Amino acid sequence: MISHVYLQELIARTNIEELIGTYTPLKRAGRTYKGLCPFHSEKTPSFVVYPDSQSFYCFGCGVGGDAITFVKKINNLDYVESVKMLASRAGMKLPEEDDAQGTLRSRVLALNRDVARFYFACMNGEVGIAARKYWRGRGLSDATIRRFGLGYAPDSFGESLSYLKKKGYTQEEMLASGIVKKSEKGNLYDVFRNRVMIPIFDVRGNVIAFGGRNLGDEKPKYINSPETLIYKKSHTIFGLNIAKKSTSRRYILCEGYLDVISLHQAGFDTAVAACGTALTPEQVRIISDYADEVVLCYDGDEAGQKATARAMELFSNSTVKVTVLTLPAAKDPDEFIKRRGADAFRHLLDGAGNALEYKMAKVKEQYDITVPDGLLNYLKDCIEILAQQATPTEQDVYAGRLAQETGVEKQRILQQLETVAKNYSKRRQRQIQQDLLKEGINSIRLPLGVSGNQALGAANAEQQLIGALLKQPELLEQVKGNLRPEELILPEMRQTYSLILQRNKEQLSFELATLSGELSDEVMAQLSRVLAQNYEIQFTPGDIQLYLSRIQGAKHQSKEAAKMEPDQLAAYLQKLKQQKKPTDFSGDE
Ligand code: UTP
Ligand code: MN
Repeated sequence: MISHVYLQELIARTNIEELIGTYTPLKRAGRTYKGLCPFHSEKTPSFVVYPDSQSFYCFGCGVGGDAITFVKKINNLDYVESVKMLASRAGMKLPEEDDAQGTLRSRVLALNRDVARFYFACMNGEVGIAARKYWRGRGLSDATIRRFGLGYAPDSFGESLSYLKKKGYTQEEMLASGIVKKSEKGNLYDVFRNRVMIPIFDVRGNVIAFGGRNLGDEKPKYINSPETLIYKKSHTIFGLNIAKKSTSRRYILCEGYLDVISLHQAGFDTAVAACGTALTPEQVRIISDYADEVVLCYDGDEAGQKATARAMELFSNSTVKVTVLTLPAAKDPDEFIKRRGADAFRHLLDGAGNALEYKMAKVKEQYDITVPDGLLNYLKDCIEILAQQATPTEQDVYAGRLAQETGVEKQRILQQLETVAKNYSKRRQRQIQQDLLKEGINSIRLPLGVSGNQALGAANAEQQLIGALLKQPELLEQVKGNLRPEELILPEMRQTYSLILQRNKEQLSFELATLSGELSDEVMAQLSRVLAQNYEIQFTPGDIQLYLSRIQGAKHQSKEAAKMEPDQLAAYLQKLKQQKKPTDFSGDE
């Protein structure tokens, strides 16, 4: 069996919309992606991918599941083969190697934690005078230093090494951590020497790498840990382990480690940075798990502006709203805070121009709008931008502004916009989701009469309940003591619920993609359908109570059915189906 940890990492590294997008073109629709179903032939798209639940569902043919199910079905592979295929796509070692790899992994994690402590101690010791002075000079308080676990690597080729040896780490483990390297002669030596050290944490708070900064202006400014089996730059967000605890879902994305640290110290606890690389789609996906809005706050130089454009492009395929912050008279947020203070920064943040404005301003720079040709082109490009990306209200507002700016009547601009928008035939997210919801509900048919209306209601409640648990696992606390698997009528839901309980008992999570190894494709499809239909719903404890009483209220009437083995029940349901006309699921209330 493939380990749970392995599957979780595989899921974390697999971007389901990207994966599926390579088989069928997907268009973003709000927080979902929509396209023509690759499993049946259709002219209008009814195939939807849900990044939130890492699932897909086709409202046309009812196929659905997680990334593994998708690979399985589309390539006709078995489960393990599909996992392997996804693993190699994600650049992971294949699952067989998992055990040895898993041990090394946890050793390297421990090593990193230990060496971070060592650097911290060095900073506080005699060798750390200059380092302490450096951090002070950067305006960092003791609290900030402790919070970020900052430290100092001594000016020596062997001190970290001998510390780690003393701690019992093997040569293999030390090399795997990237803290030491092997010289051509075959000797081990410390990678970080005479540098102030910034640990890089993963979301769970493990130290997975380091950035070591020169205390002066010599090059290179930073030496960073190489990629290791625990550190993938493209999947790491500096500061996220702290930012994720914030109550705010508005993140500030900046360029440097020190910008992040400085912003946190000034009270902006959602500041994060990509780790010394251009922003990657994976990082965007990770951020969008935590943020509803991202304020881009890159350096003001040309490189920073390029990075801004790139980030905007990447986020435009995500669910996150993007705004851009331009810092007047400072090269980066760190410098700005130092010069003008936290209040001034907050002020800027609150007035951060949005992505639309930024894009239109960029377009404007391309044309000479004092000549008619330039003006028309400018207008045309802006209309294009608004048609594709703006809400109706935004379109109205910006059409007004463009009218003032260009002297073209607002009504004209709006007309033009409408034409262009039609060409894009982009229906708004809500509308799409509601349509799908309707389609979906109409397509669920269930025999009326396991025990009459009551059981139908119960069946509905069961599906809703399982959907709720998959979406919001914390609700299991409310359910697990109050409901036994045998009380569920639908065999698929019963099986899923048993599996959820078992996972919970083993203190393992139970997201859809970790279940697909143990559930049939049929069950996976049903679960994906429930998730799809409840895509926009946030379940409350009250809902759960209602489902529970529905299920248990029907119990005495469906005692017979409840006692049946899954096979028996399936046959029973089948029989009823033949006897009675199928009824709309939605018609039971
Ligand atoms: P910066 O040069 O802006 O660094 O590079 P900084 O962190 O803001 O540091 P100060 O304020 O100048 O001291 C931005 C980011 O690019 C990566 C680091 O992640 C850095 O935080 N970088 C930069 C490197 O990895 N290596 C380098 O040599 C320079
Ligand atoms: Mn900087």
